[in-house]
This record gives sequence, structure tokens and C-alpha cells, in this order.
Amino acid sequence: MTNTLLTIDNLTVSFEKKDEPTQEIIHGIDLRIPKGEIVGIVGESGSGKSISMKGIMNILPENAVLTYDEFLFDGVPRQVGKQDRLPAAMIFQDPMTALNPLRTIGYHLVEVVQRQGKVSKKVAEAAAIAELDKVGILLPEKRLTQYPHELSGGMRQRIMIAMALLAKPKLLIADEPTTALDVTIQAQILSLIRHLQKEEDLSVILVTHDFGIVAGMCQSIKVMYDGEIVEEGTTDEIFYNPQHTYTKELLKAIPTGDKGERLYSLGNHHSDQKEVAKGQMVNLTATHRVLRKGATND
Ligand SMILES: Nc1ncnc2c1ncn2[C@@H]1O[C@H](COP(=O)(O)OP(=O)(O)OP(=O)(O)O)[C@@H](O)[C@H]1O
Ligand SMILES: [Mg+2]
Repeated sequence: MTNTLLTIDNLTVSFEKKDEPTQEIIHGIDLRIPKGEIVGIVGESGSGKSISMKGIMNILPENAVLTYDEFLFDGVPRQVGKQDRLPAAMIFQDPMTALNPLRTIGYHLVEVVQRQGKVSKKVAEAAAIAELDKVGILLPEKRLTQYPHELSGGMRQRIMIAMALLAKPKLLIADEPTTALDVTIQAQILSLIRHLQKEEDLSVILVTHDFGIVAGMCQSIKVMYDGEIVEEGTTDEIFYNPQHTYTKELLKAIPTGDKGERLYSLGNHHSDQKEVAKGQMVNLTATHRVLRKGATND
């Protein structure tokens, strides 16, 4: 038995482009995701949050190349990229991209159930209805016959969460799951994720720009910058004792916030001190690690 659900060493993702040199986007990150925790991943737009998560899920674009030294799921080595389906599910910022507009909600949910094992449509529909009920969808029988565009954004995200859970995952990756929703609905979806995490004892990776969400949801945080993890630690360590310049800047960028303004938005951060030399993660505590460029830079 191990307390770590996911262990990845030296994950890289590169994109191959016609007539251009291959471009490395993720520069060898090490990831440890503990069991039964919500881990936050923060970092500015383009820092590689989504690409690294898609790498874990093996849903990268065709021109992307994934490499790693080690990939363990629940202590067992896995062969990501070789038809090896992890017990993991991912939800996205925009549920519409993951739903077929020409198919009913019922079609989507039944498909997931039937992928798990041979059951009749009736049994699959009953499972789908029970799951919709669990994620707080009213009138679940009626929803099965509706199309994605007939539902609100918040309901669509609940449907995505139901689809994810029907796949019986041990790991749920939520990539900016509430960015497209208004604030009240945002809070409802986040509290649903938190509730389900406890109920199903899931590990959750929550990708967000929003340090406020991280503070309220996550036990630990990983900070990404330019395809690297530059700092990781418990939520308290990152908030009260940030060590990397970039983490400090992110925290400084949290505004007190006027109404209507997107709180804690980090999207406008521009760093002119882009560090290029390859660095090393240095342990500060058993849980707190920071990327240092150059050996004598402490
Ligand atoms: N299909 C692709 N081909 C080439 N480069 C890509 C492709 N998709 C993404 N990238 C590049 O990979 C980098 C990381 O993108 P990614 O989508 O992971 O960022 P992100 O941290 O999720 O940003 P955001 O917060 O805006 O969602 C970006 O520089 C992006 O331009
Ligand atoms: Mg993204």
C-alpha cells in the first residue's frame, strides 16, 4: 500500500511542427499526487497546466510527444500512450467541447456506463439517473432526453462531473472547471467537487488561475511557470512562506478585488526575469520544495 496515487518522474511534452524544430513545452516535471487529497496547480496562462494534465490522461494532440522516466499509478507502473486506460477522469473549463451537441445527455452517460461493462441500456440509464441525482441535477429522467444546448452552463458542468464519476475514477482532474461560470454557480460546483472528493475518497487535481479557490479547496499547491514546477508545498507553506520569485509575484497579484472584477486573476502577469538555466528542486521541508537555478543560489 502506498499513500501516493500518482508518481511521475521527469515528464516532458514536446510539439513536433512541420518545417520547424521540435519545441519542448513541459521541461521534465516530477509529480506526486497523494491519495484522497485535492492538489491545486496554479500558474499563468501558457505555463503548461493543461498540456501536462492532458499528458497524464493521454489525450494530447497528435503532434505532441510525451516522455517520462517513471509513471506509477497506485504503485503500479503504467504505459501511458499505449492503450493503457488509467482509472482517471478529466473535466474541462468548457463542457460543450466534451459533449456532442447532436447527442442527448442520456446517450453520453449510457455510453460511459456501458464502457465499464456489459449492461443493458435500461440498467445503464438507471445508473445514469442515480449519478445525476448525486451531482444535484433535478428531474434526472427528463435530462436524459435533453441535448447539451438545452441546459445551463452550471448544469452542463454537473453532467460532466456525473460522466467523470460513472467511469469510477480514483483520480479526477478538473482543469479550470468553474472559470466559465458565474460566481454563485462557481461556488456550487466547487462545493460539489469537494463533497464528492470526500464521499468517493478521490484524489483531485484542481487546475486554476485562482488562488482564492486554491486556498479554500486544496491541501497542497504546485506552482507552474514556463513548463516547470517552480515551487510546491502545503497550502500554508505556499501562502505564508513562498520562496520562488514567481510564487511571490503570483501572491502579490491577488487583488483585494472590486465587485465584478475577476478576483485573484493572474492572467496579466508578465515576468521579464525569465530564468533559462535548468534548475534543481531543493527540499525546504518534507513537503515544501522550490526550484533553484544554480547550486549556490540559496
Ligand atoms: N497543439 C499545440 N501545438 C503547439 N503548442 C501548443 C499546443 N497546445 C498548447 N501549446 C503550447 O503549450 C503551452 C502550454 O499550454 P497550456 O494550454 O498547457 O497552458 P495553460 O497553463 O493551461 O494555460 P491557460 O491557463 O491559458 O489554460 C503554451 O505555450 C501553448 O502555446
Ligand atoms: Mg489551460
